[in-house]
Amino acid sequence: MRTSERTFTVTPSPTPPIVLDPTGADPHEEHRRLRAHGSAVLVDVLGVQAWSVSDPVLLKELLTSAKVSKDARAHWPGFGEAVQVWPLALWVAVENMFTAYGADHSRLRRMVAPTFSHRRIAALTEAVEEIVTTLLDAMDALPAGETVDLRDHLAYPLPIAVVGHLMGVPAEQRADFRRMVDGVFDTTLTADQSAANTAEVYKALDFLIATKRTDPGDDMTSLLIAARDDEGDGTALSESELRDTLLLMISAGYETTVNVIDQAVTQLLTHPEQLAALRSGQRQWNDAVEETLRFEPAVKHLPMRFAVADIELPDGRIIGKGEAILASYAAANRHPDWHGESADDFDIARTKKDHLAFGFGVHFCLGAPLARIEVVTALRMLFDRFPQIELGVPASELKRLGSLISNGHQALPVRLRPAATA
Ligand code: HEM
Repeated sequence: MRTSERTFTVTPSPTPPIVLDPTGADPHEEHRRLRAHGSAVLVDVLGVQAWSVSDPVLLKELLTSAKVSKDARAHWPGFGEAVQVWPLALWVAVENMFTAYGADHSRLRRMVAPTFSHRRIAALTEAVEEIVTTLLDAMDALPAGETVDLRDHLAYPLPIAVVGHLMGVPAEQRADFRRMVDGVFDTTLTADQSAANTAEVYKALDFLIATKRTDPGDDMTSLLIAARDDEGDGTALSESELRDTLLLMISAGYETTVNVIDQAVTQLLTHPEQLAALRSGQRQWNDAVEETLRFEPAVKHLPMRFAVADIELPDGRIIGKGEAILASYAAANRHPDWHGESADDFDIARTKKDHLAFGFGVHFCLGAPLARIEVVTALRMLFDRFPQIELGVPASELKRLGSLISNGHQALPVRLRPAATA
């Protein structure tokens, strides 16, 4: 299904909804347009109508309101049709904490939350440094002057190794997951292509579960399988919740961190004076990470939420019960009411760097502390090892990912060192 072919869950609207560009070619221009229409505006997300909310104050209110749910099965009349024809069906059909509401959400989140305790995350810091060292060693061995894709050499392999380790994904299964997870975030796929990708994802997850049932380890997959199998009555975790929780952890862990590393490196290489301030210790690496998360958040729009009851907006308009709501995080992060006239500038020295890159409220990203450790470590060690690193193409030639959700580049060519002179 393509946007022009059909639209459903239609809200009576005085003006046609703004059609979001599935190719994500010029997101910030699109986000300016959304903000220009006020705190919330009707948009078309690959054929589904939703209220895009770009005002950070209203967005935070909605994200913490019991009148807003992520459970499409329970709270979206369009669910039945969407799972048949919408390319983003998986985003609303999965059964895990991401789409759960109320007590179900707490139950599902509690099962994995211990893995993200301070103790466990702190224990991973050293492992992250070791992984980055190995990746940088491999890059160091490349010929000087060669242009390499930093996404392939660092941005992807780091989070894949970290999540792979956390989840106990055998090394030989990791590359397949990368390709399939890319597909989950690719909003240029047709409904058929997307359904085929989903089928492949589930096949791989079933294989992973079977592997781990036979050969459990000290990892989250084995822990979740035990939770599932120990409760014979299935009250702890159903089989589909088990599968979908694994899918969530693997996909959330793989895709987002990649793009933050990509965007941070891009910004620092195009703002050398800010990179110099980091290198001299005048600024901290986490300043660069937080500003990247604000300026180019890994998730631009987060599908999807639904009104459990009518919601009156501050301007008197009503989000009707059952209507869809899109959290437009990237548009909110650059809202001038929040970050003033300089909201569109990348500035690691800005005093207020607040952002919504990890969401807000009960669904706030569980992996945020881990992601921050990964990105800070990657940046600090990369720029330390390769002080002469530069972009391999002009920044204007970098191509954005074909996604209205993910925010990164198709490739990030860099030269780690100039070619050796004879
Ligand atoms: C910089 C990297 C990351 C970014 C920008 C990010 C962003 C987000 C966002 C925007 C959400 C959705 C919030 C909402 O419902 O609106 C989310 C949820 C989630 N993230 Fe992350 N994430 C990152 C890394 C990770 C990592 C590394 C993991 C785990 C290994 C992870 C696990 C999760 C989980 C489990 C949820 C669902 C929480 C819930 O629904 O209760 N994330 N993340």
